[in-house]
Amino acid sequence: MHIKDVYSVVSEDFEQVNELILKQLHSNVPMVEKIGHYIIDSGGKRLRPLLVLLSAKALNYQDKELSLLAATIEFLHTATLLHDDVVDTSDLRRGRATANAKWGNAPSVLVGDFLYSRAFQMMVSLGNMRIMEVLSNATCVIAQGEVLQLMNVKNPDVSEAQYMDVIQGKTAMLFEASSHAGALLAGAHTEQESALKQFGHHLGMAFQLIDDVLDYLGTTEELGKNVGDDLAEGKPTLPLIYAMQNAPSADAQLIRQAIRKGGTEQLEEILAIVRQCGAIDYTIQKAKDEAQAAKDCLQSLDESAARDALSALADIAVERSH
Ligand code: IPE
Ligand code: IPE
Ligand code: MG
Ligand code: MG
Repeated sequence: MHIKDVYSVVSEDFEQVNELILKQLHSNVPMVEKIGHYIIDSGGKRLRPLLVLLSAKALNYQDKELSLLAATIEFLHTATLLHDDVVDTSDLRRGRATANAKWGNAPSVLVGDFLYSRAFQMMVSLGNMRIMEVLSNATCVIAQGEVLQLMNVKNPDVSEAQYMDVIQGKTAMLFEASSHAGALLAGAHTEQESALKQFGHHLGMAFQLIDDVLDYLGTTEELGKNVGDDLAEGKPTLPLIYAMQNAPSADAQLIRQAIRKGGTEQLEEILAIVRQCGAIDYTIQKAKDEAQAAKDCLQSLDESAARDALSALADIAVERSH
C-alpha cells in the first residue's frame, strides 16, 4: 500500500483535522499567529494525526471528537519541533528556514509554549480523563527524553540501551500516545487498547531508527532538514554506537573523536566507516524488527481498511526516504 492510499482511508477526517488546526492557531498576538502559521503551513507528514484517526477507525469509531484529538496531538508535536530546533540549533525544517533561524530563539520557545498550552486547552475540551492522563504523561516523557539526549551529547560511551531509552522518550512516546488515545476515544476494550498502544510504540521506534539512518544517508532535498546534523551536534545515534563497537579500532577511535568534538568535517569519512562495518544495515534491521513487532500487535484486531493502513504504515516507516 502506498502512503497516499493510507491517507485516503481517512481523507474526510483529515480535512476536519486541518480546519481545526488552523482555527486553533488563533491568537490576538500577531507574532504567535505568524510563527504558528509559518511552521504549520510548511506541512509536515501529519503522521501522528494519521495514527490517531486510523487507530480509532480500526475500532469502528467515527465521531467529530476524533479530529479534535488528532489536531491536539499535532499541536503537541509542533511545539516539540519548535523547541527541538532551538536546542539542536537547526536551521532547516520542512524545507524552510526554521523559526529560530528566521525570528530567533526567544519567539520560537515562547510560541512553542503557546502551542503546548493550546493543545492542553483542546485536550481538556475533549473531557476524557483517561486521554488527559495519557497525553499529559506523554509530554512529561518527551521532555525527559530530550533532556536525556542532551546529557548524552558529545559522549562516545553512550550504550545502545541508553540510546533506545532516548528515542523511546523523545519520539516513540508520542506515537504510542497517539494510537493509545485514539483507542481510548473509540472505547477500546483492554486487549484492543493494549494492542494499539504497543503498535504506536513500535512504530515510533522504527520511525526514529530510520530517521537516524537518514541523517547519514538521506538527502536534504527529500528530508527538508539538513543531513549530517546529528554528527554536527556530536549525537551518538545507533549507526555510530554500532560502528564504535564493530569497526576496526582506528576507525572506532576516529568516530569517538568526532563525537567528542562535533562538527561535520569528517562526515564523508565517517559515512564510509559506518557503511562498511555494517552499522547502517544493523540499524535498518532494528527498525525492521520494530516494524514487525508493530504489525504483530494488529493481529488481535478485526480486519478493516484502517487496520491494513496501519500495517502499511509500519512498512512505510522503514522504507521511507523522508
Ligand atoms: C520529526 O518528526 C521529529 C522526529 C521524531 C524525527 P516528523 O518527521 O514526523 O516531522 P514532520 O511533522 O513530518 O515535519
Ligand atoms: C525529534 O528529535 C524529537 C522531538 C522533536 C521531540 P530530533 O532532533 O532527532 O529530530 P529532527 O531531526 O530534529 O527532526
Ligand atoms: Mg532536532
Ligand atoms: Mg533533537
